Amino acid sequence: MDSLFSLKDKVVVITGAGGLLGRKHAEAVASRGGIPVLLDVNLSSVTSLSKDISERFGIESNGFQVDITKENEVEKNCSEVLKIYGKIDALVNNAANNPKIEESSTKNFSRLENFSTEVWMSDLAVGLTGAYLCSKYYGFAISKNQNGGSILNISSDLGLIAPDQRLYRKKGVPDDLQPVKPVTYSVVKAGIIGLTRYLATYWADKNVRCNAICPGGVENQQNPEFLKEIATRIPLGRMAQADEYQGLVIFLLSDSSSYINGSIIAADGGRTVW
Ligand SMILES: NC(=O)c1ccc[n+]([C@@H]2O[C@H](COP(=O)([O-])OP(=O)(O)OC[C@H]3O[C@@H](n4cnc5c(N)ncnc54)[C@H](O)[C@@H]3O)[C@@H](O)[C@H]2O)c1
Repeated sequence: MDSLFSLKDKVVVITGAGGLLGRKHAEAVASRGGIPVLLDVNLSSVTSLSKDISERFGIESNGFQVDITKENEVEKNCSEVLKIYGKIDALVNNAANNPKIEESSTKNFSRLENFSTEVWMSDLAVGLTGAYLCSKYYGFAISKNQNGGSILNISSDLGLIAPDQRLYRKKGVPDDLQPVKPVTYSVVKAGIIGLTRYLATYWADKNVRCNAICPGGVENQQNPEFLKEIATRIPLGRMAQADEYQGLVIFLLSDSSSYINGSIIAADGGRTVW
């Protein structure tokens, strides 16, 4: 059974590895003997993570500064990774913008009618163009392996359902100034599901599987009122802890999921079944 969930010597490229969940994906890979390749636009986050992984798991990983929206950076890094390791076994398309919302006393910029097209372009560039470019280069490299490999895309429960905007309401604020979950989040996370289905068939003859997970929100110092409200929408009655997706990540990257391809797996405490 142990070998079923092994990632021993598998080279796994993880985008946005310096963030809250990317770091957990990297630890999960290293805990099963895999070699996480840590990509982030923020170099210091992946340099410290690489050091941490070496101390905790005895795995020598590398952190790279790569802006996944830039094709030349992705192409160059893919060649470098292949030069260092000789192969790439898996890719986790994890990076996305957490849409940044400006506020002022007269306008709320998260609202669709005020939403900045610049922010729209930037959110789509990281979440969708980035995932496409990484699939194009690292995914293609995976397709060259004799036994293929695995691509794991990180969508969201909000790739499956609309945001419940009542969760983001602030007391005493007029309707036209109420904050909302931005439109880009829904569009990026639904787009990731389309990319997953496309890739699941594209290199299937080369045994490259592609699946998506749709995590629910992670508890991360949100205000108590929000935590109480969102808990009422989730059958398990709480948000996730950041390490609760690690088992699924190991499963989908390893041979234990060898016949799972094109699956869109909700991991959301049951939120999307209500
Ligand atoms: N945290 C949650 O509650 C939650 C819930 C569901 C889904 N998700 C999804 O999980 C993934 C990770 O979320 P997170 O909470 O860890 O986010 P995060 O903001 O903590 O991390 C994202 C990382 O991506 C990096 N990044 C941003 N732009 C980049 C670029 N152009 N090139 C390379 N790296 C770039 C950032 O520097 C950051 O380290 C995202 O796709 C997110 O939508 C998160």
